[in-house]
Amino acid sequence: MTIGIFDSGLGGLTVLAEALKRLPAENYLYMADTLHVPYGTKSEEEVRFFVLQTVEEMVAQGIDALVVACNTATSIAINELRERYSFPIIGMEPAVKPAVEMNRATGKKVLVWATPLTLRMPKYYALVSRVDEEGIVDSLPMPELVQYCESLQFDPDVLKDYFLMKLAPYDLNEYGILVLGCTHFPFYTSILQDILPSHIQIVNGNTGTIRRLSAMLNRYGIETGRRSGHVRFMCTGGEPAYIEKMQSALAYLKEQDM
Ligand code: SIN
Repeated sequence: MTIGIFDSGLGGLTVLAEALKRLPAENYLYMADTLHVPYGTKSEEEVRFFVLQTVEEMVAQGIDALVVACNTATSIAINELRERYSFPIIGMEPAVKPAVEMNRATGKKVLVWATPLTLRMPKYYALVSRVDEEGIVDSLPMPELVQYCESLQFDPDVLKDYFLMKLAPYDLNEYGILVLGCTHFPFYTSILQDILPSHIQIVNGNTGTIRRLSAMLNRYGIETGRRSGHVRFMCTGGEPAYIEKMQSALAYLKEQDM
């Protein structure tokens, strides 16, 4: 059986890394929409079209389940994908609900980072309205971070300057949790841990997503692999250099033990 993992670019690799830990016996087809990355600064209509087109290509390759490992794509097209296809489809959701629950006792606030498009979508607004009764959630678009990741920019000095600039307007003593609401962002967890005050926890939705995938495969009675599976990388632009980039980005995540 093959699990498709889809993202605009490299971000979904943080989800694949989690999947390889929890479900190592499966085969994976990782697809990046390199022709159209980044999604987070485009229009809703454009992204919807790109997502449907790319997933169609993955279906043609043969997948038994799909993880939309992209918060922006999930916000826009998850319902339509579920209407089109009968196999299990899991999407991403910024981990705002667990963050609010974890923070309740401390009285501190939650800061959510995501793409501009994710933060503009009604799905995000509905999520925050549902779980943030006390009004403790602040949201900040971080489109440059997707670009840094896509250019494999992991130099702590460059990133530290950028993060400090973005965080300058915030009194970090007021915050208890930073939610990484874009799958590209967990690449920067260890750099963030070095610059954030130690009381701030960093959370992302990847573990929850793979847990839900595993439960859904069981529910659908889909037979899972018994031996070690393999990963196949594809991208819509078909660039061999990008396939190498995906492999080295995944190796970087493994080095970081993510
Ligand atoms: C992007 O392509 O802008 C990142 C999309 C996402 O993971 O939300």
